Amino acid sequence: MTQQQRTALVTGGMGGLGEAIARSLHDAGHRVLLTHARDEGAAAAWLAVQQGEGYAFQSYAADVADWESCQRMAARIAADGHQVDIVVNNAGITRDATLKKLTKDGWDAVLRTDLDSVFHVTKPFLDGMLERGWGRVVNISSINGLKGQFGQTNYSAAKAGMHGFTKALAQEVARKGVTVNTVSPGYLATQMVTAVPPDVLQQIVAGIPVGRLGQPAEIAALVTFIASEAAGFMTGSNISMNGGQYMG
Ligand code: CAA
Repeated sequence: MTQQQRTALVTGGMGGLGEAIARSLHDAGHRVLLTHARDEGAAAAWLAVQQGEGYAFQSYAADVADWESCQRMAARIAADGHQVDIVVNNAGITRDATLKKLTKDGWDAVLRTDLDSVFHVTKPFLDGMLERGWGRVVNISSINGLKGQFGQTNYSAAKAGMHGFTKALAQEVARKGVTVNTVSPGYLATQMVTAVPPDVLQQIVAGIPVGRLGQPAEIAALVTFIASEAAGFMTGSNISMNGGQYMG
């Protein structure tokens, strides 16, 4: 099956997993656009490093938690002449605390950034995918959306919600060449995970049958496959890659 060059948008594309996904899609021959929430200086420095390693990305500042900000980002992408074929909803945050200690701000920040963002970012690009008869939406959820996690009522709810979105939208667009899937990574060697208190993290790793954290590049390879021509029969799926930590 011939792999065509498409245009992909990766949210949170400068983060640990986002960067790996952006690079993998670029390696597969796609044009890759990123959203980021850094200041312009930090974003430019990051882009320069990538450029030096052969990765030409175009970046757009956006707050994925904010509808208006995403509308402006979509307008800038259109004004630059891009038609987005692949949306990877990767941007996400944690605000871990037991429900007893969780604040309203900690709940809202995670629900808006991790779940509302999926609506904010997918919606502006869906019509174009339907008109062109081809599209891929890949929602990056988490093992903790499947099994729940002590200290993550907010994150587990948001991540489980992403897959509800996936299953509903997959049905709406299946006949138009657009697939919608969820990827549920386990614990990866990224800053988000290494921020977990060391004793807690040690216990988590001890519970991973493969015996280690995952590498972002391993998840990225899966996302790139789902975004490919070859994956056209996969839709509404939730694909786990978690070192065997959860097999439900
Ligand atoms: N199961 C049962 N009890 C647990 C527990 C668990 N998993 N973890 C902690 N506890 C217990 C402690 O033993 C302690 O008990 P005692 O009071 O009897 O001593 C009690 O809960 C501590 O409760 P506190 O509310 O005081 O907890 P805390 O404020 O010290 O910290 C926490 C709680 C913030 C949740 C901390 O445990 C933590 O950071 N846990 C990690 C959560 C996690 O896995 N986050 C994943 C981040 S990475 C990610 O999300 C990416 C991805 O997709 C995988």
